[in-house]
Amino acid sequence: MYSYFILLFNLPTLIISKLLWVAENRTVLTNNKLITIQSMRFKKTPFPYYGKNPLISKSGKSKRQCAEICMDDEQCISWSSDGDLCLCYSISFLAGQQATTNTFSDEWSSFEVMNPCTENLNLCEHGSTCAPDRLNKTYECLLCLAPYTGLHCNETGPPTPPTVSQDILDGKNSSCRTLKKYYDISVHKTIQTIYPWRDQRNITVVCHGDRMTVTKITNSNSEIRDLSDIDLVDGLDLTNGLFRAKASFLNNLQKLIYFDKIYFRCSQTNGGATYSFVNRIVNDLVNYRQAKYFTGDNYWKPVVTHWAWVPNSLGYTWDPEDGKLSTRSSVLKEDRPFKNVVIGNDGKHFTFSDDQPKQCFGNVWDWFKIEVV
Ligand SMILES: *[C@@H]1O[C@H](CO)[C@@H](O)[C@H](O)[C@H]1NC(C)=O
Ligand SMILES: *[C@@H]1O[C@H](CO)[C@@H](O)[C@H](O)[C@H]1NC(C)=O
Ligand SMILES: *[C@@H]1O[C@H](CO)[C@@H](O)[C@H](O)[C@H]1NC(C)=O
Ligand SMILES: *[C@@H]1O[C@H](CO)[C@@H](O)[C@H](O)[C@H]1NC(C)=O
Ligand SMILES: *[C@@H]1O[C@H](CO)[C@@H](O)[C@H](O)[C@H]1NC(C)=O
Repeated sequence: MYSYFILLFNLPTLIISKLLWVAENRTVLTNNKLITIQSMRFKKTPFPYYGKNPLISKSGKSKRQCAEICMDDEQCISWSSDGDLCLCYSISFLAGQQATTNTFSDEWSSFEVMNPCTENLNLCEHGSTCAPDRLNKTYECLLCLAPYTGLHCNETGPPTPPTVSQDILDGKNSSCRTLKKYYDISVHKTIQTIYPWRDQRNITVVCHGDRMTVTKITNSNSEIRDLSDIDLVDGLDLTNGLFRAKASFLNNLQKLIYFDKIYFRCSQTNGGATYSFVNRIVNDLVNYRQAKYFTGDNYWKPVVTHWAWVPNSLGYTWDPEDGKLSTRSSVLKEDRPFKNVVIGNDGKHFTFSDDQPKQCFGNVWDWFKIEVV
């Protein structure tokens, strides 16, 4: 007889003698019968996850069957299930390999194969991401940013002072999203200190629930501070003055906190109309890629239908004639997050570039904000 058994994390640690990268067969005696059970150690994640590109997706599977499916696939690291849909992934959610912002019904739960990344959340240091590799029984620290190098991204730079708290090291204070998740901060705007590098470096930021404000331009004459990749090597204050995220800033930021939604918002100073839009269904890989244009990761202008648009009652028709965001002519990569973000079919602009009148569809000198989550 052949059946399966799952050992969950809350078992006494004494029996967790080693990590099981492969499911192990054990023979046990039950009711005077010898049966072989397949076992593997899974850790229940504190939140259910729904990732962008599942390795396996099968419906009509119980949670136990989902665990079996994961055990049987040598690349499977984590699985999520509601008792019907089974989703297996080759990434570590506990190590923060993807951002996930979906809310789930109570039936959903996720489990992760115990691996070096789950057992030491700070194995990959200074903002790098731990990526377990079950096939090769190893792990890798991805996205290690300068000045750090090395297998664990902890060489060549200054050491982390011993005063940095475990919550920061473990990434619970990494972003507005993690603050919302672990500390349930207000859904309204609050000033928070985040530690995306998971060391002493910090950013003071306005969190709007789980969203982080990275661009803020108003119709004042104050100088606008342009943020690029070099602004993300040290601490930063994003609560004072005006600032504008360039593509390289967003690019480095998403290496640190893996955001998956970008909210663009502009408000007209005269008339009060506000327009905001966000990449749609963020956990779908195709839609997620649409946001990557603004971080300079690809060259494809996002397709309008992949964005959710929230016009106010004035009902501006924004469909650009080619169905794409951004202009037909090319925009410098660094300027993509704010220059000609949308041009409507009436020729009006959503643009906050210095070499054009800043405008929210026609009203010159308006308000502009970008939030990432
Ligand atoms: C466990 O048993 C199954 C079925 O007999 C077999 O396919 C599998 O290779 C075994 N796994 C190990 C780790 O020995
Ligand atoms: C894992 O092992 C496979 C097969 O041995 C190999 O092709 C692959 O490159 C390895 N992956 C890594 C990341 O080392
Ligand atoms: C880097 O991290 C590894 C694994 O945690 C540790 O063994 C090593 O001592 C660390 N090196 C430095 C320079 O801190
Ligand atoms: C982490 O963030 C929470 C919520 O803002 C805060 O209460 C807590 O003090 C922070 N922890 C550290 C170590 O800064
Ligand atoms: C935050 O960073 C500033 C420097 O930018 C530093 O002076 C301060 O000590 C840091 N705060 C914490 C709590 O680590």
